[in-house]
Amino acid sequence: MNKTIIITGGAGFIGSHVVRLFVTKYPDYKIINLDALTYAGNLENLKDIEKSGNYYFEKVNILDVEKLDKIFQNNKPDGIIHLAAESHVDRSILSPIDFVYTNVVGTVNLLNAAKKLWNGSYEGKRFYHVSTDEVFGALGETGFFTEETKYDPHSPYSASKASSDHFVRAYHDTYGLPVVISNCSNNYGPNHFPEKLIPLFINNCIMKKPLPVYGDGLYTRDWLFVKDHATAIDIAFHQGKTGETYAIGGFNEWKNIDLVKLLCKLMDEKLGNAPGTSDKLITYIKDRPGHDRRYAIDATKINKELGWKPSVTFEEGLSITIDWYLQNSDWLKHLTSGEYQNYYSEQYGS
Ligand code: NAD
Ligand code: DAU
Repeated sequence: MNKTIIITGGAGFIGSHVVRLFVTKYPDYKIINLDALTYAGNLENLKDIEKSGNYYFEKVNILDVEKLDKIFQNNKPDGIIHLAAESHVDRSILSPIDFVYTNVVGTVNLLNAAKKLWNGSYEGKRFYHVSTDEVFGALGETGFFTEETKYDPHSPYSASKASSDHFVRAYHDTYGLPVVISNCSNNYGPNHFPEKLIPLFINNCIMKKPLPVYGDGLYTRDWLFVKDHATAIDIAFHQGKTGETYAIGGFNEWKNIDLVKLLCKLMDEKLGNAPGTSDKLITYIKDRPGHDRRYAIDATKINKELGWKPSVTFEEGLSITIDWYLQNSDWLKHLTSGEYQNYYSEQYGS
């Protein structure tokens, strides 16, 4: 094997697309998916590649320092791509401490494991930290986040991700650890857990349940198809400069209510509903506390320096996504029992 790479959080939404891309594109790499399998981790996401000769799974919590050290020492990874995290803003409002443990302490544990293994010999080594645009706070009507934007997180989730980014940079500046960070906008696509806006609303359209729009619905997000994020990570992992940050986005801003109306139209077409059927499910509810008004990424740097750009339009990506959910109803059914119902009742009251 040419290289050994540990991908953390590989059973989650984005992680599973990154694992699939690396396992299939780099048959000469040993890919170790290290994941605790929390409510968001699901090995069904990787069924199609789980028998590949270069794929390995380790059920490990990144808070378990002893197990981490053992896996690092036994496998001697050349690279870490770190995606494991608590990732949902609403859950961070309900229980912030889980985000501090996994996102902050877990990241520092991984940095320590890499630092100990590599012991100052950094040739050919890389620690790639996957982060979010939410660390930059909220934009007004105009302007974009770039790699130079000052950090200004507002939710417990974004505060924990901001903290993890600072630790990753600190390990570069203090110990010379060869790190790369990327901050990406909102992803969507297959395998997205149905607690986030797009998969939740697809599921609720199918179930004919209310579509709970927070506040006035005029919040703006910049949406990127998950496979395009995986490609950006591949490029920045291999070609990005050590110590650098890359902002990744879809050049694709949507106000929530406009996105929801487009989604309703596509759902009605695909479900064979009369036009306007899903629109009737739209229900405005109490706003999310600390809700950031607008996110938008200027992804010029990764485009100009590394040649990355999104490969699908939003309409194409959304159509592929809806088709995937309609063809994978079992995947949704397996996720929407038990823990999901408890969370749903606590968050939406029904
Ligand atoms: P996800 O919630 O779908 O998956 C997270 C994965 O991490 C799961 O497989 C889970 O089992 C695992 N995990 C959680 N806690 C763990 C722990 N303590 N030890 C080991 N594994 C653990 O998340 P996602 O949406 O795929 O996001 C992945 C990463 O990308 C996160 O770091 C997130 O902050 C970042 N990100 C997400 C988005 C987005 O739109 N979803 C955008 C930008 C950045
Ligand atoms: O920007 C990147 C971030 O995008 C990632 O770092 C996070 O991990 C990811 O969860 C996502 O965060 P958001 O908070 O932007 O995503 P979410 O899907 O939760 O919400 C998108 C928008 O939709 C936001 O303005 C809140 C709104 N919303 C969300 C839900 C779940 C609703 O109006 N109703 C809802 O029920």
